[in-house]
Amino acid sequence: MSLSGRHILLTGAARGLGAVLARHLAGQGAALILADLAEDEGRAVADEVGARFVPVDLGGPGSITALAAEVTEATGGRLHGLVNNGAIATGIGGIGFEDVDIDTFDRVLRVNVRGTWLMTRAAAPLLRASGSGRVVNVASDTALWGAPNLISYTASKGAVIAMTRSLARELGPDRVGVTAVAPGILTTPSTDYVPEHRHRLYAEGRAVPGPQAPEEIADTVAFLLTEGALTLTGQVLPVNNGFVFT
Ligand SMILES: NC(=O)c1ccc[n+]([C@@H]2O[C@H](COP(=O)([O-])OP(=O)(O)OC[C@H]3O[C@@H](n4cnc5c(N)ncnc54)[C@H](O)[C@@H]3O)[C@@H](O)[C@H]2O)c1
Repeated sequence: MSLSGRHILLTGAARGLGAVLARHLAGQGAALILADLAEDEGRAVADEVGARFVPVDLGGPGSITALAAEVTEATGGRLHGLVNNGAIATGIGGIGFEDVDIDTFDRVLRVNVRGTWLMTRAAAPLLRASGSGRVVNVASDTALWGAPNLISYTASKGAVIAMTRSLARELGPDRVGVTAVAPGILTTPSTDYVPEHRHRLYAEGRAVPGPQAPEEIADTVAFLLTEGALTLTGQVLPVNNGFVFT
């Protein structure tokens, strides 16, 4: 599989799954633009993989617009792939729904949901112009199996799944494909805070038992960015070694 010649924008690339995806997609020949709130870490990953880095706050509409302007300039106005990976993904679980504070809930929805919408909206003209634009949204299987004590996050990822389906229909006439991947719990630093019993639930519940590393889902994401993946538009792929089936 080659992504050679394809310009791809990856958000949340400074660490965790995003950094793993950056290395993998670069290895497949993609011309990458990495974006993240965390500037120093993001630039370090970009330097490592030979990519361009642009800072972005997915909670800020103006910041997203500015990122899109830089992407336009860097790509000549043609973007082949957008990976909406950046999100508030750590430190927000383990709290019952009655105890989540409103500011936290709003912040998670603002970044994970509104940020995904605004990022896709800003990139849409560039994706259309490429003739084979692909959007890959990073959701989570927590929204599929109803993970408890994680209400803001599951609400946000459920919304990402719903938006994937609607966007697939809106962008399909322009042959822009929109898919989502729904990983289970990964061995990223972001899940270090998750209690052992939740890690064990996944490890024992997977069709392929045991922990799952972020590297294990990178091939699927890379495929979804290829021209041949258009046929999957609108689909949500649980990339969780068989923890949930759809
Ligand atoms: N790690 C897992 O177990 C797991 C499971 C399912 C889904 N996911 C999803 O994978 C993606 C990556 O998660 P991760 O585990 O690597 O988490 P992480 O916290 O390590 O990485 C998230 C990245 O997003 C960036 N980010 C956060 N807020 C931002 C903002 N306002 N603007 C721009 N960037 C921002 C962070 O700086 C960070 O680099 C997320 O969408 C997450 O929901 C992760």
